[in-house]
Amino acid sequence: MPKAELHLHIEGTLEPELMFELSKRNGVSLRYDSVESLRKAYDFNNLQDFLDLYYEGANVLLHEQDFYDLTMAYLKRVHEDNVIHVEMFFDPQTHTVRGVEMKTIVYGIHKALVDAKEQMGITFVLIPSFLRHLSEEEALDTWEQLKPYLSYFGAIGLDSSERGNPPTKFQNVFAKVKEAGLKVVAHAGEEGPVDYVWDAIDTLKVDRIDHGNRSIEDPSLLNKIKQEGLALTMCPLSNLSLKVVSDLGDHPLLSLMDKGICVTINSDDPAYFGGYLAENYLQMSNALDLTQSQVVQLARNSFEASFVDDETKEKWYSQLDQYVQSYK
Ligand code: ADE
Ligand code: ZN
Repeated sequence: MPKAELHLHIEGTLEPELMFELSKRNGVSLRYDSVESLRKAYDFNNLQDFLDLYYEGANVLLHEQDFYDLTMAYLKRVHEDNVIHVEMFFDPQTHTVRGVEMKTIVYGIHKALVDAKEQMGITFVLIPSFLRHLSEEEALDTWEQLKPYLSYFGAIGLDSSERGNPPTKFQNVFAKVKEAGLKVVAHAGEEGPVDYVWDAIDTLKVDRIDHGNRSIEDPSLLNKIKQEGLALTMCPLSNLSLKVVSDLGDHPLLSLMDKGICVTINSDDPAYFGGYLAENYLQMSNALDLTQSQVVQLARNSFEASFVDDETKEKWYSQLDQYVQSYK
């Protein structure tokens, strides 16, 4: 089925094999002596457990070619899953704190996106995200560093350790982002409370919510999300791996969809969570016993919730309809 991926951290697509290759290429040592021992460490109790390893893994990324290779490997992989559009996060601060220049990161990722569009027809929106465990001052400094490249970006995001780092901590920097005419997204209600989803909407004025699992706890919040036409980019295998849900059968995706919320399926950090986009669809479909029309609705939602123009969306809806017809 043709579909879009709207919640994907490029650093979270770094497979152990490429991590070792880059560690050798760049002379950056790793704490693990083999791909197997590294993979064994992918046993997380919570978001922070994962983030510690994810930031450590990103240390092997130094040069433009590294960011290119990482991005191209992901795009080639999801082309097999029939992903036709991707809205991709990257974490500038993860790299700039190590002395990597902003242009190295942006050019490396962007070149791969442009090449993949030419070679495979995959379209894209690129989304730098501020790390919420750092200060707003550091986010403001990063915003200044991003400014020369704003034409490369379709939105700005907020990610990393959620608990104790509410969206309100970043209200000044996101006011500047909005002023510059960029869209805003934020991770909210993954591990953090329902209040953080409210804050993301009321204070940051988000255009979409990443995860948003905990929204299910608050009917008035669900009304607000519907009223504002906000979509939730949900990540089932990530939620299972980080113990946001204890079983995929308990995932709120279907209940939210039944309540009329525009929810989408995404892979978040597929190298760490055991599956790329199609695998997320497949495992959710099995766990929640989804009907064919519900699965098709999820793909349609991925187009509806994307940041492209209406004409492009209409084209994708027809493409999806054609695919469904070919199966009847
Ligand atoms: N960065 C990468 N993946 C993330 C997630 N699931 N939550 C918050 N920050 C992240
Ligand atoms: Zn995420």
